Amino acid sequence: MLGPVILAASRSEQLRRIVSAAPVTKPVVTRFIAGETSEETLPVVKDLADRGLEVTLDVLGEDVTDPAEALRARDAYLGLVEALRPLGLGTRAEMSIKLSSFGQALPGGHDLALKNATAVVEAAAEIGTTVTLDMEDHTTVDSTLAIHAELRRRFPETGAVVQSYLFRTEDDCRDLAAAGSRVRLVKGAYKEPASVAHQDKHQVDLAYVRCLNILMAGTGYPMIGSHDPRLIAVTQELALRHGRALDAYEFQMLYGIRTEEQHRLAAEGHRMRVYTAYGTDWYGYFMRRLAERPANLAFFLRSLVTK
Ligand code: FDA
Repeated sequence: MLGPVILAASRSEQLRRIVSAAPVTKPVVTRFIAGETSEETLPVVKDLADRGLEVTLDVLGEDVTDPAEALRARDAYLGLVEALRPLGLGTRAEMSIKLSSFGQALPGGHDLALKNATAVVEAAAEIGTTVTLDMEDHTTVDSTLAIHAELRRRFPETGAVVQSYLFRTEDDCRDLAAAGSRVRLVKGAYKEPASVAHQDKHQVDLAYVRCLNILMAGTGYPMIGSHDPRLIAVTQELALRHGRALDAYEFQMLYGIRTEEQHRLAAEGHRMRVYTAYGTDWYGYFMRRLAERPANLAFFLRSLVTK
């Protein structure tokens, strides 16, 4: 019941200001956010890489309101590419971008987001790495998949994300699997209406398994973005059934969530990529993490009263 309320709050500008300014918020936020700057975050990346984990880096930001802000978001990623260059990690450190931070929702935003994303994908390719386009709310899916298809003409390794809670996603998986794409499958983190998305958690999980089966049977590279132990077990079974070697798919989890499990899977020889978010604009990302697990909210509220 609490999840949808927190998700609604994640879009409130007033709450964003209050929560972001509260000094007690910081220690809770740092559980999920690796740092505020690339200088603070790169040692975390190096440490994860040294311990056999891979990363995808997200410079926090979403829903920009003017083109100049979108350019600043693009430039933050171009700066990240320069910071990654000397580390020579190649695809072990890739990047995830939210097209809403590149201007997708502005007038003419589809073309603007494509242009900004192209600059980042080109720079990433220069240092031998890749980019995955995060998926946001359902109104953006057509535009995001079209931008993904366009980017793949020159950079076929560009990744897409699909959300099992959306009714449309099985069809999207069929298209992407046949096209040989890198596809991250997640349950979905936004508040969506019953006209487009399953509302029942169990239905979302069942849809996840159907989508996973399509991706594992296809010609692409599935990226399993979930912390759910049952889905991890199902992935391992499907990999066997479809004859996929350990390097023909990968697990992905969020920084700060089920860290021991991340290390366990890597130690078993799995490719394990940690989605590592950093920056100052953490409000929306942080609120979605609270919404996923009420226990996180309790932890957050407790920290407010015990300070
Ligand atoms: P579920 O929520 O059922 O959780 C399973 C178990 O994992 C829980 O019982 C708990 O132990 C642990 N867990 C899960 N979330 C937790 C949390 N916040 N705090 C503490 N423990 C937690 N969504 C989206 O809409 N677009 C996107 O582009 C992405 N990208 C993305 C990348 C990666 C790498 C991951 C892992 C996830 C995303 N997501 C996303 C988020 C995704 O849609 C989903 O909301 C979360 O992954 C939670 O779903 P689970 O599959 O983990 O299962």
